[in-house]
Amino acid sequence: MAAMLTMGEVAKHNTKEDCWVVLYGKAYDLSKFAKVHPGGAKLITNAAGMDATAAFDPIHPKDIMEKLLKPDIMKGVVDPATITEQYVVKAPAAHKPVQKKKSKSSSEDDEVIEEFKKPPLAAMLNTFDFESVAREVMEPQAWGYYSSGGDDEITLRDNHLAFQRITMRPRILVNVKDIDLRTSFLGAPASLPLYFTATALAKLAHKDGEVGIVRAAAKAGVTYMLPTLSSYTLDEMLEARAPGQLMFAQLYVNPERSRSEIYVKKLEAAGVKALFVTVDAPQLGRREKDMRSKFTQQGSDVQDGDEDEGAVDRSQGAARAISSYIDAGLCWDDVPWLQSITKMKVLLKGVQCGEDAVLAYKAGLKGCVLSNHGGRQLDTSRPGIEILPEVMEALREAGAKMADFEVFVDGGIRRGADIFKAVALGASGVGVGRPVLYALASYGDKGIVRMVHMLQDELQMVMRLSGTPTIASITDKHVLTTNLADHIVCLPTDNLSNRTYESLQPAARL
Ligand code: HEM
Ligand SMILES: Cc1cc2nc3c(=O)[nH]c(=O)nc-3n(C[C@H](O)[C@H](O)[C@H](O)COP(=O)(O)O)c2cc1C
Repeated sequence: MAAMLTMGEVAKHNTKEDCWVVLYGKAYDLSKFAKVHPGGAKLITNAAGMDATAAFDPIHPKDIMEKLLKPDIMKGVVDPATITEQYVVKAPAAHKPVQKKKSKSSSEDDEVIEEFKKPPLAAMLNTFDFESVAREVMEPQAWGYYSSGGDDEITLRDNHLAFQRITMRPRILVNVKDIDLRTSFLGAPASLPLYFTATALAKLAHKDGEVGIVRAAAKAGVTYMLPTLSSYTLDEMLEARAPGQLMFAQLYVNPERSRSEIYVKKLEAAGVKALFVTVDAPQLGRREKDMRSKFTQQGSDVQDGDEDEGAVDRSQGAARAISSYIDAGLCWDDVPWLQSITKMKVLLKGVQCGEDAVLAYKAGLKGCVLSNHGGRQLDTSRPGIEILPEVMEALREAGAKMADFEVFVDGGIRRGADIFKAVALGASGVGVGRPVLYALASYGDKGIVRMVHMLQDELQMVMRLSGTPTIASITDKHVLTTNLADHIVCLPTDNLSNRTYESLQPAARL
């Protein structure tokens, strides 16, 4: 039985080294975990010896400790009568509906404060519109978390630009009076070849978080891949389903395999159709925008307050290096174990070359997502769309049939034409990540539904103008990929390096 504690006893553990925190009436020893907490150590150590439920609840699900951490960190149940105000950490400010925006007036010193007026939902014409609104309405730290990419963000930007390296090769005089966008993949029907991919912590966008995404997915007729690191509990996400609504799920394999096993069994029992095991994040990428915004928001000890270390970001470095909840030891030998714990279709998320796709096929997996984690992991890795032709060819040579092994692409999909190009090159469907979060942040689940409708409109137009009335009629003959892998054509500007570099000056300063 759990020990009964008073808040006075918990309050004694109020230092970085000895850090107990009360969450939902239970005391947890987070001294070790704080150092590897991906949101920064300070969020936790600031609450040492306190009840931090109000700060924790707007971001995390109630069951995250049980799901990710070892049971022995739970130190006991706290007598609620002893949790008086002095021990309670205040909730962070609620999501701002509108934010003040600063702009310079004509005179240099004169700064004018303008109120940001959120445009009506009907004014949203493309996915970038949602991104621009989200940037204004989101908390800076949440914006930093969502928008950031790895290192110089070359891959982040190239994910989108790569689609521009594919050109259209339309056919004429095809009857395109009726256009049918419907398709199905992994046994799930879809109103277009698209799904919402897994993205962690949707409550940072909107209080409805993943529950809002589940609702929007039902309304838009697309499948949602539930994230392991959701901000609502699995039960809450499942309860939000419409009758008969199909779901996929993403899995980070826990170093303690039994935890993943329990989670996977729960997904299967709930009727989840397919399990996407993330294989591109044995260590979290360096996301500098995110680190910088945390530094500003949480203060300098995001760098662990270690003056001797200068600007070395120790706590964030540790978080990325030794995650306590993602197993860096996961390897091909574990695939049979994964297949043995579930009857769901198992796929890999984060494949980046033909050889690995073939290994996945030969291991009996049901497909893969060509993804670089939205440019958040290994910078200068190739966009999924660029890898697609290589993977399709390798699979063809290995004798794989699309019905046995389905290939998906995610990263940088922002237009209906992007979906068309991925389908043309052999993808069963594409995943969208940030556009869903940005639409949710800006307008809630209604925003997501409109975002899908816009993509549908765009895709419908592209299909009509290309002479392809059905998804099945879109082929690799409808696009040209000559320049796809050719980075001379369109290389993203290296902003950070360009602005830092001091150029050489000629003697005469011409
Ligand atoms: C005082 C309590 C806590 C607060 C206020 C808090 C807050 C946050 C915030 C604001 C983020 C970040 C998003 C960002 O990077 O900006 C985050 C990320 C995260 N937190 Fe916490 N957290 C707390 C405790 C915990 C605990 C006990 C766990 C237990 C497992 C946990 C697990 C995580 C994980 C896994 C992420 C990262 C998700 C990702 O990067 O994909 N947090 N947290
Ligand atoms: C804020 C954010 C959180 C993410 N969290 C996860 C995650 O927990 N697990 C995962 O497999 N992928 C995660 N991803 C990667 C997405 O599943 C997907 O690969 C990527 O977002 C696609 O690129 P896009 O955002 O350009 O559409 C995340 C992406 C973002 C932007």
